[in-house]
Amino acid sequence: MEKIDRINPFLSKIKERYPLTTSGSTKQTWHVVLDLKNSGIQFKVGDSIGIYPQNEPHLVENIIQKIGGNVDIIHPRSGKTLSLREFLTHSVNLTRLENVATLDDLYAQFSPLLPRFYSVASSLKEHPDEVHLIVALLENGVASNFLCHRAILGETPVPIYVQPSLHFALPQNASIPIIMIGPGTGVAPFRAFMQERHGMKNWLFFGERNRASDFFYKDFWEGHIDAGNLRLDLAFSRDQAEKHYVQHKLYEHSKELWKWVQEGAIIYVCGNADPMAKDVEATLQRIIKEQAGLHDDEVKSLLKTLRKSRRLLFDVY
Ligand SMILES: Cc1cc2nc3c(=O)[nH]c(=O)nc-3n(C[C@H](O)[C@H](O)[C@H](O)COP(=O)(O)OP(=O)(O)OC[C@H]3O[C@@H](n4cnc5c(N)ncnc54)[C@H](O)[C@@H]3O)c2cc1C
Ligand SMILES: NC(=O)c1ccc[n+]([C@@H]2O[C@H](COP(=O)([O-])OP(=O)(O)OC[C@H]3O[C@@H](n4cnc5c(N)ncnc54)[C@H](OP(=O)(O)O)[C@@H]3O)[C@@H](O)[C@H]2O)c1
Repeated sequence: MEKIDRINPFLSKIKERYPLTTSGSTKQTWHVVLDLKNSGIQFKVGDSIGIYPQNEPHLVENIIQKIGGNVDIIHPRSGKTLSLREFLTHSVNLTRLENVATLDDLYAQFSPLLPRFYSVASSLKEHPDEVHLIVALLENGVASNFLCHRAILGETPVPIYVQPSLHFALPQNASIPIIMIGPGTGVAPFRAFMQERHGMKNWLFFGERNRASDFFYKDFWEGHIDAGNLRLDLAFSRDQAEKHYVQHKLYEHSKELWKWVQEGAIIYVCGNADPMAKDVEATLQRIIKEQAGLHDDEVKSLLKTLRKSRRLLFDVY
């Protein structure tokens, strides 16, 4: 079987797609299932999937009209002949183009349409031949609009490959407790983790805007809670006047959190890099300082040790 990678992606199709946010929500986040059948693709929970999106057809047609028709062109990198429509749909970062009237303008401003990454939100053990993604729909976002709306179910080819994660992985020793901090789409790897962690010590901190409309996978988490498999703390930021975030929940449970760390727990943080992950790290620093009674430099050194020994892991974007 041919090796699937960034240069040679697998042409998957979307098998299933539904919104995780309900109609009353102030945002849209989608559950997207990609078909991996006959791909030979293997991934680990904690990995990401690289996806080559397609540009909006009306933006593509606009440029074709300006240039004077769907002529055949030579790809500036590969040297292959292809139609202008094909080139503009799959290969060009259109957001970088200004005042394109001729092919020369297009070539002069060419920058490639790069793949986007999505954390895997399912385990092959539970869902063989599929990978599940959690995609936040961004206004004018190329890949998120392609995945959540434009790609036709079971029809449009979606070129994908696995972007392996070196360290954001479950411990080999399954008895090690884990603390998962993942607001928003950051919860994706933790859904995958929980599909592989039955009967173990797991603690998830999830946050979103509103409980009524944005509590993704409520039944799944509640099933794990009922099975005695998961502790869940929630922070809905917009259900009250004051913002309430995952780090406020972490701080509320400082004493117990510190106990888990002393028992050897691994802490995982996934989602928005700045400010979420920075604020979460600052809160962890504060919790350790207060609970362990350490000075600032000692706390910093302890955090450094936790990072180095892969007991404090970040997958942020
Ligand atoms: C390791 C990793 C894992 C990730 N996991 C997930 C995940 O699980 N789920 C998830 O939803 N995301 C995830 N992301 C983010 C994801 O890869 C994309 O960055 C995200 O979906 C946005 O891509 P897009 O193509 O939709 O938006 P883009 O087209 O890249 O645009 C991003 C934003 O910038 C704005 N913009 C673009 N161009 C311009 C311009 N010229 N001027 C002004 N504004 C502009 C757009 O309107 C949009 O709001 C992950 C990222 C990484 C690196
Ligand atoms: N441009 C857009 O339209 C748009 C829309 C959605 C997401 N995004 C971006 O897409 C990425 C992923 O977004 P996402 O859907 O996963 O969710 P997100 O935007 O990261 O939000 C998830 C939850 O985290 C909260 N949050 C905001 N700031 C925080 C902080 N400093 N510390 C802890 N929690 C914080 C949010 O609250 P509040 O939102 O109530 O503050 C919300 O409850 C992010 O980079 C985000 O910036 C952009």
